[in-house]
Amino acid sequence: MDLFEYQARDLFEAHGVPVLAGIVAHTPEEAKAAAEKIGGVVVVKAQVKVGGRGKAGGVKVAKTPDEAFEYASNILGMDIKGHTVHKVMIAQGADIAEEYYFSVLLDRANRNYLAMCSVEGGMDIEQLAVERPDALARIAVDPAVGIDRAKADEIIDAAGFAPELREGVANTILKLWDVFVKEDATLVEVNPLVKTGAGDIVALDGKVTIDENAYFRQEGHAALEDKDEADPLEAKAKENDLNYVKLDGEVGIIGNGAGLVMSTLDVVAYAGEAHGNVKPANFLDIGGGASAAVMAAGLDVILNDSQVKSVFVNVFGGITACDAVANGIVKALEILGDKENKPLVVRLDGNNVEEGRRILAEANHPMVTLATTMDEGADKAAELAYAAR
Ligand SMILES: Nc1ncnc2c1ncn2[C@@H]1O[C@H](COP(=O)(O)OP(=O)(O)O)[C@@H](O)[C@H]1O
Ligand SMILES: [Mg+2]
Repeated sequence: MDLFEYQARDLFEAHGVPVLAGIVAHTPEEAKAAAEKIGGVVVVKAQVKVGGRGKAGGVKVAKTPDEAFEYASNILGMDIKGHTVHKVMIAQGADIAEEYYFSVLLDRANRNYLAMCSVEGGMDIEQLAVERPDALARIAVDPAVGIDRAKADEIIDAAGFAPELREGVANTILKLWDVFVKEDATLVEVNPLVKTGAGDIVALDGKVTIDENAYFRQEGHAALEDKDEADPLEAKAKENDLNYVKLDGEVGIIGNGAGLVMSTLDVVAYAGEAHGNVKPANFLDIGGGASAAVMAAGLDVILNDSQVKSVFVNVFGGITACDAVANGIVKALEILGDKENKPLVVRLDGNNVEEGRRILAEANHPMVTLATTMDEGADKAAELAYAAR
């Protein structure tokens, strides 16, 4: 999960990385109050999880609290690369003498960590990396050793920092490494890392990606999730431990196993070509068990998607045999009751399939159609979705 800049700032502060004061504001009034509290020149910064805010007009220097109010009114609600700004950070203004770049990240291709550093940081770092790659030092970091003082010195030398900056930059890099390890991050990036007029090193903008696989040992990380921005259906699916991804089409899809669900998406998209080009509405893998509770939770998520016009349940019975899955579906329909208001096509195959089909046929639910093959089911579901348009 990517963090907002203000969340990265807070983590930096907690680990001793030098940062400036920063207060989150949701309204121009809060922005003004924050500017008064911080005092002096402040910077109003859009909080969106995308880079290039400065160039998009989402970072503005305010000399007075009234200016902070004005800039916050302009920036709140702004769209930056498809992200709506719901909050701003009021940051203490820095007297910037120079801008540098530092990051450390998980280097998947090389099964290693990688540190990158440049004395030419700031808003054009991407361009620098492409046009003059030599100006961006890349230093491999052995996970077993990490960034110790010797490694920090190697990074500093490769980037070409002036000798008088060595102590300050090395200390900051060591603290940023602490953030990376202790917070189970896969990316810690500071751009710009600045030298102030007084010669201090300060992290002015931070980007941190934390590893969701480490939630179990990182109390508090789950709370960093942005509930406002998450799709409510995706949030609901997550609560129920379902693998759900919303797509644009009209045929809801439920299957067991990622491979089966993916091929179901293909088959439905293909069948849809003959029925007004209807497409799959989602990816939903209910996993191995396919119990009634899981089936009901999955159906509930999909039926609540207003774009969905029909649902295709495509399950292959393995260890959980088809009769158990069929009973799960029948019970799920009971649990949902009147909520089950869209046509449902069910295709079962695999272990104990005859018994499974018998159970569903016997239940004779008015909204359920049985299909024997995947192609037939996909075609029926696409036809029903098109008819319901
Ligand atoms: N607190 C601050 N004080 C002074 N200038 C700042 C401050 N924060 C950012 N800036 C300036 O604005 C530029 C862009 O801000 P930054 O936070 O890096 O956003 P982004 O990377 O999304 O464009 C920085 O390179 C820096 O020059
Ligand atoms: Mg930046």
